[in-house]
Amino acid sequence: MDFEQFFFGEKRRCIVGGVELKREPVALVSGVTGQDGSYLSELLLKKGYMVYGLDRRKADASRSNIKHLLGNEHFKVLDGDLLEESRLNSIIKMIRPDELYHLAAQSFVKASWDVPLYTCNVNALSAYNINYKHEYQILTHKRFDFWINGIVLEVKKSRPSKINLLNQLDRYTKVPAVRAIIVVLEKNITISKQLNGKPIIVKSLNENWGVAL
Ligand SMILES: NC(=O)c1ccc[n+]([C@@H]2O[C@H](COP(=O)([O-])OP(=O)(O)OC[C@H]3O[C@@H](n4cnc5c(N)ncnc54)[C@H](O)[C@@H]3O)[C@@H](O)[C@H]2O)c1
Repeated sequence: MDFEQFFFGEKRRCIVGGVELKREPVALVSGVTGQDGSYLSELLLKKGYMVYGLDRRKADASRSNIKHLLGNEHFKVLDGDLLEESRLNSIIKMIRPDELYHLAAQSFVKASWDVPLYTCNVNALSAYNINYKHEYQILTHKRFDFWINGIVLEVKKSRPSKINLLNQLDRYTKVPAVRAIIVVLEKNITISKQLNGKPIIVKSLNENWGVAL
């Protein structure tokens, strides 16, 4: 039993024929080429971990933050994008990490507003394995930014006109399949928390973070 748990489960030590076998703890670090992922990998290596880092395949693969770790036999970089669920599953099955550190993100505040849909997708929806549809067209002329099982997530750059926003929300809340709407704005607009009996949740960058771009 110990033996099976050692090779196929979570046990890190077992005795076979009076001999003690030890397995080093395994960590998977997403965002390993980033600032925090690279420092964390250094720390984990010092503590005796086998460290697997997840890195997106990209044209400029300089990996400057982890250059000094690349020759280390206890450190391996695996290609994988957070948006590729099946790849992530197969990596986890393959390396069976004891610990998982999730640091990959689109982390640049300004870029959040240059590429808001991508940012939502990578940092929130995919990262938390939320099943969603992007650019979901439910009826002619009604296309939602994100559709999450009846919840509409709309992302608006800057501060849209309040009238236009209310008109849009009015149309959306009249769709029977819509259960609630989350509106993400750069600059806050105060609107009613309910429309046509459906909840409206507004989140804004300037209110949450104290900044607007
Ligand atoms: N460093 C800080 O001061 C700070 C402060 C607050 C929050 N954070 C958060 O901590 C985390 C790490 O920060 P950081 O400074 O190391 O960020 P970073 O931008 O230096 O690193 C992010 C890493 O994520 C990877 N990544 C981005 N999109 C990916 C995708 N789709 N699939 C796979 N990998 C992807 C990038 O290639 C990069 O290696 C981020 O979530 C960031 O928002 C950091």
